[in-house]
Amino acid sequence: MRHSSVLTIAQIFGSIIAVFIGACLSAASDSDWELEPMKPNLKDKASLQRGLGLYVNFCLGCHSLQYRRYERTARDLGDIHKDDMLDYVIFTGQPIGDYMYSSMSKEDAKSWFGAAPPDLTMVTRVRSPKWVYNFLKTFYMDDERPFGVNNKVFPNVGMPHVLLPLQGIPEEICYGYEAVDLLAREPILREKKLEGILTRTDRDTPIEQLDPLEGRELNCPEVAAIPGTGLYTPEQFDQAAYDIANFLHYMGDPSREVRVSMGRYVIGFLVILMIFAYILKREFWKDVPKSPRRVREEHTTEL
Ligand code: HEC
Repeated sequence: MRHSSVLTIAQIFGSIIAVFIGACLSAASDSDWELEPMKPNLKDKASLQRGLGLYVNFCLGCHSLQYRRYERTARDLGDIHKDDMLDYVIFTGQPIGDYMYSSMSKEDAKSWFGAAPPDLTMVTRVRSPKWVYNFLKTFYMDDERPFGVNNKVFPNVGMPHVLLPLQGIPEEICYGYEAVDLLAREPILREKKLEGILTRTDRDTPIEQLDPLEGRELNCPEVAAIPGTGLYTPEQFDQAAYDIANFLHYMGDPSREVRVSMGRYVIGFLVILMIFAYILKREFWKDVPKSPRRVREEHTTEL
């Protein structure tokens, strides 16, 4: 009896801790934003090279890739020449054999952004390439945030929208309104004692066409850049976000391609080995005497 009650208390504590940890992890950055599909492709060396170029120009200043070296990256991404790496990729004056460090100190970064920019070597393993792709595409203007931008996939992120010059000024596209407290606004309704919150959703009515009501909750299912404010067209920007996410997918596991092609050789080798093993087996069994039953059967048929 005592034993089982101790067990129950332990179980209850265990579940409380599990729920608490789960809540903390999910509260860290989860949102219910629906992620657009994105399929990484490590064979597309041009995309990976563009991703590297964009990364060193727009991200490496804050986010290191401290578990990877420039040299290996150059080799894997289609044998980029050493001089090209030194001229166009390595801005920190490091030798090519060095790790891809950021030049910003962690302490400075923490005081500037509230959170130190994490190392991104493994980010696509922790999140996913799809998550990173959508994260880069869903920044939008928000006056209430310190950098004037917020993010749909990572709400209240401490990162500025560094790709803004490419994308242009991204704004939320909002429709309709929901959960409007009409009682607070309309004396007539109050007279009629109509109580409660009325909910209305006009998904297809642009926000400008609606009466401005206080306390409305907007339904903003899209983000789009104001045309003409960025260097890239929306398609080019999507491609840039894809290239960066694809590059970070490579970073998370640089040997993936080698492993997959090695796998084919291994299977081929095993198939050939099986042929020889089978021939050898036949050779061995030739000399083994037949089982007594087969001998007897043969004997009876002869009779
Ligand atoms: C000015 C510095 C700065 C630059 C440049 C920058 N970031 Fe960030 N980034 C941050 C900070 C700070 C955070 C942490 C935000 C937080 O935790 O609220 C962050 C967070 C992230 C995260 C989320 C990591 C996680 O798992 O929590 C990703 C992914 C990311 N950045 C990708 C990028 C990419 C890709 C680029 C280049 C296009 C880039 N960042 C450029 C400052 C920067």
